[in-house]
Amino acid sequence: MNQEQVIIFDTTLRDGEQSPGAAMTKEEKIRIARQLEKLGVNVIEAGFAAASPGDFDSIHTIAGFITQSTVCSLARASEHDVRRAGEAITPAMQHAEKNGRIHTFIATSKIHMENKLRMSEDQVVERAVQAVKWALEYTHDVEFSAEDAVRSEMDFLVRVFDAVIAAGATTINVPDTVGYSIPEPWGERMATLIKRVKNADKVVWSTHCHNDLGMAVANSLAAVANGARQVECTINGLGERAGNASLEEVVMAIKTRQDYFNLTTRIDATQIVPASKLVSTITGYPVQPNKAIVGANAFAHESGIHQDGVLKHRETYEIMRAEDVGWNTNKLTLGKLSGRNAFRTRLKELGIELSSEDALNAAFARFKALADKKSEIFDEDLHALLSDEFDSVASEHFKLVYLHVASQTGEVPHAEITLSADGIEKSAQADGGGPVDATFKAIESIANSGVELQLYSVNNITSGTDAQGEVTVRLSKGGRIVNGQGADTDIVIASAKAYLNGLNKLYSKSEKLNPQL
Ligand code: KIV
Ligand code: ZN
Repeated sequence: MNQEQVIIFDTTLRDGEQSPGAAMTKEEKIRIARQLEKLGVNVIEAGFAAASPGDFDSIHTIAGFITQSTVCSLARASEHDVRRAGEAITPAMQHAEKNGRIHTFIATSKIHMENKLRMSEDQVVERAVQAVKWALEYTHDVEFSAEDAVRSEMDFLVRVFDAVIAAGATTINVPDTVGYSIPEPWGERMATLIKRVKNADKVVWSTHCHNDLGMAVANSLAAVANGARQVECTINGLGERAGNASLEEVVMAIKTRQDYFNLTTRIDATQIVPASKLVSTITGYPVQPNKAIVGANAFAHESGIHQDGVLKHRETYEIMRAEDVGWNTNKLTLGKLSGRNAFRTRLKELGIELSSEDALNAAFARFKALADKKSEIFDEDLHALLSDEFDSVASEHFKLVYLHVASQTGEVPHAEITLSADGIEKSAQADGGGPVDATFKAIESIANSGVELQLYSVNNITSGTDAQGEVTVRLSKGGRIVNGQGADTDIVIASAKAYLNGLNKLYSKSEKLNPQL
């Protein structure tokens, strides 16, 4: 039986990056894009080209090397934005498959048109049509989104979609921008649009749901059940505010409940957990243990009755197999005796390319140092190690030179630290409520940054007491929020690295536009 395919449109690099503090460097985006291609997503929304020169550059680079997925740029419905998006995806148009897409959007709800755009309905329709026409100058693959479709009037939505399809749009996306919908009306909305819009059968219908009421996945699936054939989603459900629909949940629901949907996707599910871990490591957004599919406990059975059942017959309590979504595939890769070639080969297999022999040598030296402390090195360790490597190359304002922390029962924890600040070494010491507190205070007595620490979390990267601890800190200053990460077998050192990484991001990241502003 030939099942219809649902197109998986991943927007981790665009909507996902709109999560507070989740801004990614170009190298980080490249690594995620490679993993998304491996995962088999149909479309990678690589960014919003007009947002900043950095966003443009990332999309342009990703469009140059990704060949198995379509690379897309978001654009507001303005000539400048659409042309920037068109230029950014040009390298993808040079591949035999000409797989570059422009995704243009304009708000269609009264509240947005009157208060944000200050445009009439006629003006919005005209601009939407014009944006599609500009986009068609660059690619045949043009997606149009009606922002805040959830609160838009049905008659007006039909009018806009009639017009953009007539102008040549090939995908029509219906977003629940504010996460307001619930499954039944969302499904009905999709069905009504497909029934009423002219030439609805000539385009792909898409859904894009936010998770403000915790229903992004349910709403997306309701849209699919009513005719949507593209779902816009993100790894780990990352995204603006409460996030977007989570890719892994959408994909596994379609796969596991084929009896209901009778649909398929082209996702290689065994790449889901590696993708989840990579995105979590890079963005510093930990995955909650009870998160479906990718949470550490998603396949753990605690109750004796469940354990007994699973041992006797797995399907008694399991509807999916952990290995089918990529658990337990963290192959033991390298160890103390591994050489440079083995290291280089494994990085290549992981889709990590270092810019020069010098960068490879530096990374290899760090790997050797880690292998001295930790007998088994897994793929996750390599990702964390390389994240550190890319960060230290990207932003060098503060660097950890030396850290000594004393912590003992009955004594006040004390930290002594030496940092290199723009190449000049400075030392300081401080007491604190605990070793991490003392370390952060010592750093601050040098940096004087005035940041507020909003979040501090530690996760083990792999299992075992010699595992690396991965620390995430969220720092805010003057309305800007960044996440800093650091990994080390010593969690106090990992904490210092994370804090410095956050400070470096605050020093180095350029401002960029948010498309919805
Ligand atoms: O949530 C939203 O409406 C968006 C659009 C730009 C598609 O992200
Ligand atoms: Zn969105």
